[in-house]
Amino acid sequence: MSLIYLDNAATTPIDPRVTEAMLPWIGDNFGNPSSVHETGRKAKVMLEDTRDLFAEFIEARPSEIYFTSGGTEANNFAIKGSAFYNLGKKDHIITTTIEHSAVIDTVEYLKIRFGVNVTYLRNNKYGEIDLKELKDSVTDSTFLVSVMHSNNELGVINDISSIAALLKDTGIMLHTDMVQSLGKVKFSIEETGVNFASFSGHKIYGPKGLGVLYIKKDSPIDKFIHGGKQERDRRGGTENISAIAGFKKAIELLNAEMDSDIKKTSELRNILLAELNSQFSDKIIVNSAKEGGVFLPNIVSISFNPKTTKIDPDTLLIKLDMKGIAVSSGSACTSGSVQPSHVLKAIGYDDSTARSSIRISFGRFNTESDIEGLIKGLKEIFS
Ligand SMILES: Cc1ncc(COP(=O)(O)O)c(C=O)c1O
Repeated sequence: MSLIYLDNAATTPIDPRVTEAMLPWIGDNFGNPSSVHETGRKAKVMLEDTRDLFAEFIEARPSEIYFTSGGTEANNFAIKGSAFYNLGKKDHIITTTIEHSAVIDTVEYLKIRFGVNVTYLRNNKYGEIDLKELKDSVTDSTFLVSVMHSNNELGVINDISSIAALLKDTGIMLHTDMVQSLGKVKFSIEETGVNFASFSGHKIYGPKGLGVLYIKKDSPIDKFIHGGKQERDRRGGTENISAIAGFKKAIELLNAEMDSDIKKTSELRNILLAELNSQFSDKIIVNSAKEGGVFLPNIVSISFNPKTTKIDPDTLLIKLDMKGIAVSSGSACTSGSVQPSHVLKAIGYDDSTARSSIRISFGRFNTESDIEGLIKGLKEIFS
C-alpha cells in the first residue's frame, strides 16, 4: 500500500536532495563553527553562506538572521525576548485567538508568571482580524503585537503590511509567525514592515529542529537562550550544522522550484475543492471559504456537517490511515488531544463541529492521483 501523504502543513517529507546535502555534515564535516581550526572554519563558512542565502531569499540583511531550533523557539525568542527587554517598562501584548500554541502558550506564560497583560483580537468567521479593533487595543503600555502571517489550520493569510503601517512610529514591535508561509507565498520581509518573523525548516522539505528568527535591524530584544556567544551573542548554543546544511539546500530548491510548487499545490487545492463540492456538498463545510479571500495555496480545512454526517473525526482519520491516507485533524501540534480546535472555536464553531474537522494539506510531491485516492477513500467510508 503506497502512502498518500496529505499532511504537509504538519511536516513536509524531506526532499531526497536535502538528505544528500546533509550527509557530509553528519559525517566527515563534523566541525564546530566556533573552532578556529580548519575543520571548524569549514562549518563556519557553510553557516554564513546559509545565512546569506536565506537573507537574500526573504530580502533581509544577513545580520538580521538568527538560527534557532525551530519555529517554536523563534516564536518564544521574539515574544519572551521582547517581554524581558520591556520588564518594568511596558507590559501589554496584543495577539489573536487563532495563533499557533507556540505563541498562545508563550503569552499565557508571561501573563501568569510576569503579569503581562494580553489582549486577544477577535477573528471573524474567515479568521481575519479587524484593524480598527487592533488600533483601539493599543495602549501606552503596548510593546508587542504578534499576528501570524498565515494560519496553519485554515490557511488564511493576514494583511501584515497594513498592521505594520498602523503601528508605524509608535515604537511598538510587530512579530509575525511565517512558519506556514515560507515557500508558499512570495514576500519581501522588508515590505511586510515587521520587526520579528519566525520560520521553520521542516515545512519546506528541510530538516526538523531548525528554524530562523528574523530580527529587523535596531529592533530592541533581549537574548533568550543564554550560553555561548553564538549568533552574534544573541542565541547561545552550538549551531545545528547538519540541519543548517539541509536548510541551505531546501532554500536553494525553493529558489528554483517555488513557482512550480505554488502552481501545483494551487491546482490540487482547486481540484480537491471542486471534487468535495460535487461529491460531498451535503456532508461537508469548507472552513474559512471566503470569496476573494487570500489563502495559502496548499491547505484545505473542512468540517463535517453534524446534521448529515455522524462520524467521529478520529475514527475517520484512523479509517483513512488504514487505507494509507494521511491527513490531520485540527493542528498537528495539538493532535492527540481530544480538545476541539481552538482555531475553529475562535471563528465561531460549536464544540462538536469544531471537533469534526480535518485538514488536508498538499506539497511538492503530491499528484492528482492522491486526490483521487482521498475521494475514493472518503466515498468508501461514507457508503
Ligand atoms: C504556524 C506555526 N507556527 C509554529 C510552528 C512550530 O514550528 P516547529 O515545529 O518548527 O517548532 C508550527 C508547526 O506546526 C506552525 O504551524
